[in-house]
Amino acid sequence: RKPITLPELAARKRAGEPVVMVTAYDFPSARAAEDAGVDIVLVGDSGAMTVLGMDSTVGVELEEMLVLARAARRGLRTPLLVVDLPFGSTEVSDAQAVTSALRLVREAGADAVKLEGGGPERISRVRAILAAGIPVMGHVGLTPQTATALGGYRAQGRDAATAARIVAEARALQEAGCFSVVLEAIPSELTELLLPQLTDTLVIGIGAGPATDGQVLVFHDLLGIREGKGAKFVQRYADLQDAMTDGVRRYAEDVRSRAYPAPEHGYGMPAEELERLRT
Ligand code: KIV
Ligand code: NA
Repeated sequence: RKPITLPELAARKRAGEPVVMVTAYDFPSARAAEDAGVDIVLVGDSGAMTVLGMDSTVGVELEEMLVLARAARRGLRTPLLVVDLPFGSTEVSDAQAVTSALRLVREAGADAVKLEGGGPERISRVRAILAAGIPVMGHVGLTPQTATALGGYRAQGRDAATAARIVAEARALQEAGCFSVVLEAIPSELTELLLPQLTDTLVIGIGAGPATDGQVLVFHDLLGIREGKGAKFVQRYADLQDAMTDGVRRYAEDVRSRAYPAPEHGYGMPAEELERLRT
């Protein structure tokens, strides 16, 4: 397969062929995405929680995103690589946002960047980053970086006023020139109403129902690399946290019972060398 381009993704939308996106945060997760044939890989700031163990995404640094993104980049050849601009890396000014986006592209090999929100000041950031020649993916609905202001991690747009705001934000992001927009945790009915208005941007959903042009899930959620069950929209395809714990537990048992290492795990020494050593 050849590296996927933005025109190819746009063609997928026109042809009605669903686009597959997944997050990755390191070399093995990126390799899994590459080998499974996904279209877009997102180094999400969800990595703050999934791999760095933080309890929200607000504290992750741009420097930390760069480390995760470089590792993911090394595992990828084909999918488009999108990297999240973390909270605090775009809020101060358009110039700060451009500087942060440039670092993700130049120092980690991002093909595009994603930022949350679609209000007037966010649109200004999007335009500035686009003017620097960097493709931008938008993200509206549940935007975890500002979850406190939204009233917590819960579906957005279930009342007409909030729904109308989400419609306006998504349209503004399209208008500004985002090649794609993520809709997170909004009613399926709202997505259905919105899609005919988003003909010029690739709409990727997560907890937004089936009407989008594609879907995204967090790697650790879909593979069960976590405790607990996760959000309502998550479908689990494996239970790797349990598999990992089980593997380490069996290793610990074997060390304690001296079943490991076995003779075949050891290195040998020629008998005459051993004799020479002894004398
Ligand atoms: O950080 C992330 O994983 C995301 C996706 C859920 C869209 O932003
Ligand atoms: Na994110």
